[in-house]
Amino acid sequence: MSIVIAIDGPAAAGKGTLGLRLEQHFKLAKLDTGLLYRATGFKVLSQGGDPEDPAQAEAAARALDPAELNNPELRTDESAQAASKVSAIPGVRAALLDFQRNFAQNPPKLADGSAAQGAILDGRDIGTTVCPDAEVKLFVTASTEIRAKRRFKELRDRGLEAIYARVLDDMKERDARDTSRSASPLVAAADALQLDTSDMDADQAFAAALDFIAAKN
Ligand code: C5P
Repeated sequence: MSIVIAIDGPAAAGKGTLGLRLEQHFKLAKLDTGLLYRATGFKVLSQGGDPEDPAQAEAAARALDPAELNNPELRTDESAQAASKVSAIPGVRAALLDFQRNFAQNPPKLADGSAAQGAILDGRDIGTTVCPDAEVKLFVTASTEIRAKRRFKELRDRGLEAIYARVLDDMKERDARDTSRSASPLVAAADALQLDTSDMDADQAFAAALDFIAAKN
């Protein structure tokens, strides 16, 4: 049986770490859907365009090639801000929907060539819009300050220059845009497990998710 796990929540809440543990544990194919929006925003910026222009953003989303998702420049805060802007445009979300649903329904083979046992998608609207029938939905959060501290440390660890106050402001700006937009705003699905990782380490979050999944079977 193929399982679909949806992980949603704001930036730096711990979705990536938890998703990786679940991906390996259940042998799932993983899609980081934020990369689709980052690649769209990055494409518009690199064409000298405006990520808030619906026609430009939608054209970029439609022309997206999955190979573009491997670009390391998608990890920058500039790409994150552009992603957050293009992601508020309904035409962009619609253009990226089929790719995400197809990934969930027909997960690609794993890196070792074996068949995936299902798919895990991480994003903002997976449990509500992309895969409303997902067997498992997790909504991962943490306080804004803790998420900003995690992102700050991550940037520094990668050797990038960062100012905490700036990271915190960017996080607040992105949260406000993601939760207030009318197209698929960031909101927990009614049947999602809500996991606040502010005072949890990766092992505790993983254990809570496994308990939730076990209780469903
Ligand atoms: O998860 P990540 O930080 O890479 O996402 C970048 C931006 O893409 C988010 O701030 C959000 O605006 C957008 N996004 C979205 N829906 C998703 C995934 C990401 O709107 N499913």
